[in-house]
Amino acid sequence: MKSPLPQHIAMIMDGNGRWAKNQGKKRTSGHKEGAKIVRDVTQWCASKSIPYLSLYAFSTENWKRPKVEVDFLMGLLEKYLHNERAMYIKNGIRFRAIGDISIFSSTLKNAILELEHITQNHTKLTQILALNYGAHDELARAFIKITHTLEAKELSNLKPEQVIKLINANLDTAFLPDVDMLIRTGGEMRISNFLLWQASYAELFFTPTLWPDLRTDELDSMLEQFCQRQRRFGALG
Ligand code: FPP
Repeated sequence: MKSPLPQHIAMIMDGNGRWAKNQGKKRTSGHKEGAKIVRDVTQWCASKSIPYLSLYAFSTENWKRPKVEVDFLMGLLEKYLHNERAMYIKNGIRFRAIGDISIFSSTLKNAILELEHITQNHTKLTQILALNYGAHDELARAFIKITHTLEAKELSNLKPEQVIKLINANLDTAFLPDVDMLIRTGGEMRISNFLLWQASYAELFFTPTLWPDLRTDELDSMLEQFCQRQRRFGALG
């Protein structure tokens, strides 16, 4: 084994729409099936003692989808947060959201804040849902926060490594280690504005498997491959 187990796995959950189409069903039924996989993958991470799992559930760009699909996803998320409460409690999983949730309906916002509150002392795994999340938006919000606390003159006197620390501390992910392993299902080979800053040294895994078809044996095999990779972080091996 060349690399220890990843501390932080991030997943881009793609392929729900195509899965539904293949089954002759509406796109929304792919999302419904996808929500079940969210539960399986979360429990898999907990069983492997991986401390952090980030899932890209709704991007800042997803608002461009038809209103019926957006509304369905918002409703599904709200139901998920209520229905899965027992899963978080039973497995000792802490829930956190990243992204700008301020524009969500107050019922959805409350469901998010409530689950965060109920699970705040759980230590087995932290599952992070990226909701109305985009890396550019996150960085822009972090820069705005920084200018609220520091004048331009103070900022210009900082060394680059101090600025890096300041950016890290003001990102939504300030409580998280960097991403070690980034998995994207659905066959596309892109990062789609997900955790761009935090995944700078992540090992990338792309699989053609559609998100609703993802099973833990494939995750086991990716994890094995991860442990075989030599991570150098720019240094020599
Ligand atoms: C991408 O598939 C998936 C999304 C935009 C949403 C992800 C949502 C889920 C996995 C289910 C709900 C999650 C929770 C936490 C309740 P796509 O629609 O782009 O698929 P396609 O590329 O095949 O069209």
